[in-house]
Amino acid sequence: MKKVIYPGTFDPITNGHLDIIQRATAIFDRVVIAVAESKEKKPMFSLSKRVDMVSKAIWNLDSVEVRPFSGLLVHLLQEEKTKFVIRGLRNGVDFEYEKNMEYSNRSLYPDIETIYLNCRAENSFISSSVVRTLLKYGGDISHLVPDEVEKIIRDA
Ligand code: COA
Repeated sequence: MKKVIYPGTFDPITNGHLDIIQRATAIFDRVVIAVAESKEKKPMFSLSKRVDMVSKAIWNLDSVEVRPFSGLLVHLLQEEKTKFVIRGLRNGVDFEYEKNMEYSNRSLYPDIETIYLNCRAENSFISSSVVRTLLKYGGDISHLVPDEVEKIIRDA
């Protein structure tokens, strides 16, 4: 059984992330979304809220699960007994950032294999920070996040 970890801060999960998750299910038997505590990023949403939003967004994807994590990604891979990581790429800036992160991770865990999925053109401008900015100033986010996530945010 091939299992992959999709790590991120997911503050909050967006349609761009969900597209990567759906496409990962066509490649891997099991997809584990690992929501990073990411204290240094001072997330807008608590870790448990971010996990809850992901779990609601993936309700119809049988081979996908979500869990929180803190600490190093390589330790999580060892705990989850897999060497596969999936990441989405939106542009060259993402690529440069991801390349460095992969080199750092590989220096700690040489077996790591990162699979990059190019995001769809229509999602290439989406980021969690765009969503957070729109939320801050009362803008519409319904075209950027899964319906379930919009509902959680609206009902909060
Ligand atoms: N669609 C839309 N947005 C996307 C996206 C996609 N397909 N892929 C990435 N993004 C956006 C996110 O929305 C986020 O936007 P923001 O910065 O505006 O909030 C940004 O890209 C990056 O977010 P994310 O993909 O969540 O990654 P991250 O950089 O927050 O988290 C971790 C990366 C958690 C994987 C990484 O920090 C990590 O592994 N941390 C653990 C410590 C560790 O082991 N570090 C590595 C060794 S030094």
